[in-house]
Amino acid sequence: MVNDIEKILETIDLETTPPLEEPMRQYYFLKKARKYIEEASKKAGRPLTACTTTFGCQMNARDSEKLEGILHQIGYVPSQSEEADFVIYNTCTVRENANQRVYGRLGVLNSYKKKNPHMMIALCGCMMQEPEVVEKLQKSYRFVDLIFGTHNIYKFAELIVNCFECRHQIIDIWKDTDQIVEDLPSERKYPFKSGVNIMFGCNNFCSYCIVPYVRGRERSRNPKDIVREIEQLVKDGVVEVMLLGQNVNSYGKTLEDPITFAQLLREIEKIDGLKRIRFMTSHPKDLSDELIEVMKNSKKICNHLHLPLQSGSSRILKIMNRKYTKEQYLELVDKIRAAVPDISLTTDIIVGFPGETEEDFQETLDVVRKVRYDSAFTFIYSKRTGTPAAKMENQVPEDIVKDRFDRLLAEVQTISKEESKKVEGQVLPVLVEGINEHDPDLLTGRLTNNLLVHFKGEKELIGTITDVYLKECRGFYYMGEKLEEQEGSGTWHN
Ligand code: SAH
Ligand code: SF4
Ligand code: F3S
Repeated sequence: MVNDIEKILETIDLETTPPLEEPMRQYYFLKKARKYIEEASKKAGRPLTACTTTFGCQMNARDSEKLEGILHQIGYVPSQSEEADFVIYNTCTVRENANQRVYGRLGVLNSYKKKNPHMMIALCGCMMQEPEVVEKLQKSYRFVDLIFGTHNIYKFAELIVNCFECRHQIIDIWKDTDQIVEDLPSERKYPFKSGVNIMFGCNNFCSYCIVPYVRGRERSRNPKDIVREIEQLVKDGVVEVMLLGQNVNSYGKTLEDPITFAQLLREIEKIDGLKRIRFMTSHPKDLSDELIEVMKNSKKICNHLHLPLQSGSSRILKIMNRKYTKEQYLELVDKIRAAVPDISLTTDIIVGFPGETEEDFQETLDVVRKVRYDSAFTFIYSKRTGTPAAKMENQVPEDIVKDRFDRLLAEVQTISKEESKKVEGQVLPVLVEGINEHDPDLLTGRLTNNLLVHFKGEKELIGTITDVYLKECRGFYYMGEKLEEQEGSGTWHN
């Protein structure tokens, strides 16, 4: 795709005014930005570097790949160092601590900027959609050159051009958008696997959650665009995709020609050369029988489902606006397990939601014990300004929450260790992701259930799917041995 864009850029005349329609307008600014960076690089007498830092979820990470794609296209050399010439923080605001980390690190960036006249600092992502944050940045963080939000990320090239043309703080935040701009460059972190957005935004308004306020209303991408993107990725060597959305189970409902998530999966399954399909996140309230059927019959969908519980208490779930009860959740789990017996289930749980009692908490523990999750992300409830839960008066005292959190974590970890062991001794396909970080003699890969496996092998295997004997489970990962005589396969059940 980058080569295609390159061809289009050659045809653009910067002497004309920028086109109005997208993505042509952004192509124009890609070319213009490139000119500015070339000039700056000449002045500096060296290539200019750029560093992107991701603070949030997988959707945030995917956005960062788009930012990096644009930065690369306009001539910045990627760098891991925050002393780079262009530093961008892609922020998250789902919990307060994510927020605090950004302010802490901005001070350090300022000290780097004082030493480097070419340096530009940009902030984007969910935190920037909060007016109080932008006010604070405007007042006390004047050294930040560019601030934009989640809805206009596709305009990144244009915003960089603005920064070069008027050297004062540029702020461009949109409240919402109905636009989806396709065909912009993006840089993938891994050559063999990629996230693919299938939808943006969220309409669920769980009462504790800020995401619908900072990501806007739910918008699905056209299925044709999604399939086209994946076909292109496969041509580039991708064998695994992770379909991304805040609630993938409601995919397609708002399209002109509505289609279901299950139908989309059927289309994606047909793509030749694609070996593994993952998706997240699945909201239990919208998980259909049709989807379970597709998962059961698929040769490519991984045997892993992330099914956020949030709380096991039906009373709390109601106040959370999750729209399912404890019993409905457990029934759903039974139904999924009946269809796909070896499925790995993971979840998200919040402890200390306003008004949560010990009895409510015991209900959560009860679900954890009944479902026996392969792993679970546990969070301490964080009060997010603007959400209904923030105004609830019966906030739970910190020490009680901490005690519950510790008890939950212990339970989750004990079960998770036991569950991780269950494929010990089997031979299963592993997507080899890279050389082991601690031992260069080993490779590291992933089972379809998402567990890591370390084993001895040649680095040529990176990016391929290969059968590995799972010799020993060590807590949350496996030590394995590659089977020499077997051809790798990408399937896991029939
Ligand atoms: N759309 C996904 C979740 C996205 S946010 C879903 O509905 O499952 C990821 C996780 O962050 C949530 O599942 C929830 O467990 C947690 N989370 C969201 N808001 C939170 C808050 N205010 N405090 C603590 N955890 C929160
Ligand atoms: Fe937040 Fe709920 Fe939307 Fe998930 S479904 S992003 S928890 S509002
Ligand atoms: Fe954070 Fe935004 Fe994702 S708030 S969790 S980065 S959608």
